[in-house]
Amino acid sequence: MAKALRPLIAANWKMNGSPDWVDKPLEFDALFPQGQRKSLDVLICPPALYLQRLSDTTRQAGMYLGAQDCHKAASGAHTGCLSAEMLMSAGADYVIVGHSECRAAGDTNKSVKAKASAAKRAGLIPIICVGETEAQRDKGDALKVVKTQIKGSLPTLADYVIAYEPVWAIGTGKVPTLKDIAEIHDAIRAQVGDGVRILYGGSVKPTNAKDILAIENVNGALIGGAGLEMKSLSEIARLAV
Ligand code: PGA
Repeated sequence: MAKALRPLIAANWKMNGSPDWVDKPLEFDALFPQGQRKSLDVLICPPALYLQRLSDTTRQAGMYLGAQDCHKAASGAHTGCLSAEMLMSAGADYVIVGHSECRAAGDTNKSVKAKASAAKRAGLIPIICVGETEAQRDKGDALKVVKTQIKGSLPTLADYVIAYEPVWAIGTGKVPTLKDIAEIHDAIRAQVGDGVRILYGGSVKPTNAKDILAIENVNGALIGGAGLEMKSLSEIARLAV
């Protein structure tokens, strides 16, 4: 049933890129043309500085555009921060909130919930990241940690995406077993209901994406390293249709 949800393949560029990456969406479109991916959503989340620059090329390529974080307030004295409204006006459709790299830098479930709610207020779709550390998994606490993070981080309004990203799998080449991914995704499904897309993230590559994307409650992927190259991103996206 959950597989009826439209898959979402999202690239999180993190703090990578330069002005000439503006054509990457067109490069992606040449590798995997829009006509062949009508049942799939593809999203690029560049550094916020490049949102405006990429807004035309992502549209032309039939892709969505997202930011990597936002502030909870619409405006105010918050040096160095960007509001969801600003990201929206720069062309974003989505915003990632609560990525483990931001949780490590101070985000809590409470602040993630406030950011996800701010995204909804501005008309963006939040992608709410959750995931356990290696120590938490070793202790047998992975499920408990993820459930608590979800309970504390969801916005009050509907229409959001969840990304399950085990912290120890991000950028390490390590991936949980398919059984472990399925167990967590099934638990998240039970918690958030049928209409929510649940992405897996953490060392997704063209070589492992097929098996991961075939899991029942996996509705797409949040991709770091392999999302910087359009060749690998398009190979992964092809495995999602
Ligand atoms: P990775 O990053 O694919 O490089 O492991 C995933 C993420 O941080 O979203």
